Amino acid sequence: MVTLNVNGVRREVKAPDDTPLLYVLRNDLELIGPQFGCGLAQCGACSVLIDGKEARSCVTPVASVANQEIITLEGLPARWAKQKGLSGAEAKNTLHPVQQAWIEEQTPQCGFCQNGMMIKATELLESNPKPTLAQIKEAFTTSGPSPNLCRCGTYVAIIEAVQHAATIMAKGR
Ligand code: FES
Ligand code: FES
Repeated sequence: MVTLNVNGVRREVKAPDDTPLLYVLRNDLELIGPQFGCGLAQCGACSVLIDGKEARSCVTPVASVANQEIITLEGLPARWAKQKGLSGAEAKNTLHPVQQAWIEEQTPQCGFCQNGMMIKATELLESNPKPTLAQIKEAFTTSGPSPNLCRCGTYVAIIEAVQHAATIMAKGR
C-alpha cells in the first residue's frame, strides 16, 4: 500500500513500489490527463507536477513520491483557485490560466502532447511570471530530462499560449 497526495486528496493505492506513477494515476485513480507517450522520459506527455516541479511520471516509481504533492492536469484549476484565494463556488467555474490560454489560442492539434506542455508552462510561469521568448524556449527544450515533444509541430502556438497565459495570470482572472 502506498499513500499518495494527488490534487490535494490523500489516496491509498495497492501497487508494487516500483510501479510507474503514470500507471497508478491512469489505471487506479482514473486521472487521464497524463498520457503514455514514450515511457522513457523522452517526450513529456506523462508529466505531472511533484512539489511544484515537472516530473515524468512514466519513470517515477510510485513509492518514491509517497507523501509528496502530486498535481495532474486535472488539479490545475484547484491549484490556481487556491493560489488566488477563490471561494469554493468561484473555484468550480475556474480554469487555470494556462488551460484558459490553451483554449483561447486553440493550441492543440491532436492534443496528445498537450498535457505535458501545460504542466511545463505552469511550472515555468509559477517561477517566472514574465518569461522572455528565450526563456520559454529554454523551458521546453533544455530544462527537463528531454525536450517536450509535439509530433504535430504546435511549437509556435505553444509559445503564444504561454505568453497569453502570462498575461491572464498578471491580471489575476
Ligand atoms: S511518456 Fe513519459 S516522457 Fe514520454
Ligand atoms: S498536438 Fe499532436 S502531438 Fe502535440
